[in-house]
Amino acid sequence: MGQENYLENLIRERRAVKKGYTDKEVTADLIRDLLDTAIWAPTHGMRQPWRFIFIGAEELPEFAKKVAATYPKELQQNRENYLNEPNAILVVVMEEPDKQKQWDENFGATASMIQNFWLLAWEKQLGVVWKTNPHIYDPKVKEILKVADNEKIAGFIHLGYFQEKPEKQNRISIDEKFSNFSDLNR
Ligand SMILES: Cc1cc2nc3c(=O)[nH]c(=O)nc-3n(C[C@H](O)[C@H](O)[C@H](O)COP(=O)(O)O)c2cc1C
Repeated sequence: MGQENYLENLIRERRAVKKGYTDKEVTADLIRDLLDTAIWAPTHGMRQPWRFIFIGAEELPEFAKKVAATYPKELQQNRENYLNEPNAILVVVMEEPDKQKQWDENFGATASMIQNFWLLAWEKQLGVVWKTNPHIYDPKVKEILKVADNEKIAGFIHLGYFQEKPEKQNRISIDEKFSNFSDLNR
C-alpha cells in the first residue's frame, strides 16, 4: 500500500479468470477474510442485502452434480464438468425487496461489494469470475441452496488460483462515453 497509483493499477490490472485454475486449495477462511473487507461497500439504508454460501473443493463435485441435474439430459455432463473447473464456488445471495427503487439499490450495493471482493482477491493472486449462467435463475437451484422466495442468486463466483493472467479486454474509450450537458443540444 501507499505506492503511487496503487489503486489505479489494481483496478486496471484485475481480470476475470475463467479457466486454467490450479489445484491449490481456496479455503473458506480466506474467502471469509476477503468478504469481511468487501462488505464495506456502500449500501443504501444500511440494508447490507447480501449473504454467502461457500462450496469448497471437497463439496464441489456433489454440488456440481446436483446443479447439472437441473439441466436437460444432453447438457448435464457438460455442465457438471464446467462447474467442477474452479477450485471453489461462492454463491452470492441478495435480498429482493418489492420496491423497484430498493431492488436497484440492493443490486448496486451487491455489485459494489463483489467488485471489492474481486479486487481484494486479485491482490492475493486468487482468480475470480462473476458468473450469471442460466442455472442461477432456476428455482430448482434456489431450492438446492435453500434460497428464499424473497432472495435472488446474484451470481456464482468461480474461484481458483491460476498460472496465466488472462488477456486484457480493451475498454471503449471514455471519449466516446462522456459528454457535457451543454453539448447535448448542439
Ligand atoms: C454481472 C456480471 C456477470 C458476468 N457473468 C459472466 C458469465 O456468466 N460468464 C463469464 O464467462 N463471464 C461473466 N462475467 C465476466 C465478464 O465477462 C468479464 O468481466 C469481461 O469479459 C471483462 O473481462 P475483465 O473482467 O477481465 O476485464 C460477468 C461479469 C459481470 C460484471
